[in-house]
Amino acid sequence: MKRTIVSMPGDGIGKTVLPEAKRVLNAAGFEADYVHADIGWDFWCSEGNALPQRTIDLLKEHKIGLFGAITSKPKDAADKELNPELQGKGYVYFSPIVGLRQLFDLDICIRPCRSFKGNPLNFIRRTNDGAFEEPLVDSVIFRQNTEGLYAGVEWTNPPKTVRDAFETHPKMKAFKHVPSEDMAISTRIMSRNACRRILRAAFEYAKKFGYSNVTVCEKPNVLRETSGMMFKEAKMVAKEYPGIALWDTNIDAQMMWLTKNPETYGVLVAENMFGDIISDAFAGLVGGLGFACSANLGEEVSVFEPTHGSAPKYQELNPSIVNPIAMILSACMMLDHIGEKEKSDKIRSAIAKVIEDGKVKTYDMLKLKGGPDVFKLGACTTQQMTDEIIRNL
Ligand code: NAI
Ligand code: MG
Repeated sequence: MKRTIVSMPGDGIGKTVLPEAKRVLNAAGFEADYVHADIGWDFWCSEGNALPQRTIDLLKEHKIGLFGAITSKPKDAADKELNPELQGKGYVYFSPIVGLRQLFDLDICIRPCRSFKGNPLNFIRRTNDGAFEEPLVDSVIFRQNTEGLYAGVEWTNPPKTVRDAFETHPKMKAFKHVPSEDMAISTRIMSRNACRRILRAAFEYAKKFGYSNVTVCEKPNVLRETSGMMFKEAKMVAKEYPGIALWDTNIDAQMMWLTKNPETYGVLVAENMFGDIISDAFAGLVGGLGFACSANLGEEVSVFEPTHGSAPKYQELNPSIVNPIAMILSACMMLDHIGEKEKSDKIRSAIAKVIEDGKVKTYDMLKLKGGPDVFKLGACTTQQMTDEIIRNL
């Protein structure tokens, strides 16, 4: 069956890297129709909506989306750049990717962080005899994608009803003398069902791909209610997976462990914000934003995207310098999801080969400052990297 994929390049380098991923998918023999869908800053500016209804409809119909990146700007800039005819009419900017996650309940976010042999950006560590070693990292972060600190339930100058409700908590005594207008509140709300879903997804993944441990990365000694609920549910879910060890670490300690012995950790699970933090931290050990891919999975709709943003400072460079691998690996996650694992394995092997050969490198792999001069210093273009991956398929 020929698939239809909703293609959402978005802004900036999203428009550069998404077509590169399509080239690789085609070359690997994946047959699909791509329907373009509008998303991002341009549509905020022109029609006051960064996530137009026609895009939502396309995702509802076809279920699978490939997404590049979007640009978000602070409130003042958003108001100023809005089409003058729409200004003052109550339009409010919101991030369309956060919007998509909430609208389609894409509550399972998967961010694999795996080192490729020979990547000059890999984490290295000094050994006792003064030499260096390069542990291969193979960690997969499961981030709860819709609730927690990013659910958006927050106030500056909370209304009286909210303040009164908070005052029922004994710990609010400490804030007794703070006027509401000098108070900001962001909440961390978690539901048992969502905790169970992300935990079960993590354990299932560990079972399917042979990981021996699942680490819940929270802070239950301080965040007794929310982290406490996640850990309690983890113990319940773990009982269904006798062969897989359940570990727990505190988010702060985990940030230290990952630069000491990152190779120890397999699957990790966390709430939205903690998951965002640990996945960026692990990504830093395996090459950074040029390599960091992700999947946002819901019951019906799924969207696959690199974790990097639109990198506006590079969007005008022609030829382009950015690394397409994060986007191509995200497309591989899409193939895994729709049962085309043979093709995704083929693409990942080709990427591994290009990296190990070490002849073709984007500017980030050469640790250069980005700009038009990187080619003189040995960097390849975005398109040349794609060509090399295709050559190695
Ligand atoms: P960014 O991820 O766009 O770029 C940060 C830096 O990372 C770049 O300057 C570049 O040095 C490097 N980088 C990013 N992608 C790369 C690639 N493929 N290859 C090589 N190097 C790469 O984050 P930044 O600059 O904080 O944000 C820029 C815009 O992107 C903002 O408007 C922000 O709101 C948005 N953003 C969007 C995201 C999304 O669409 N999911 C995620 C993060 C930021
Ligand atoms: Mg992040």
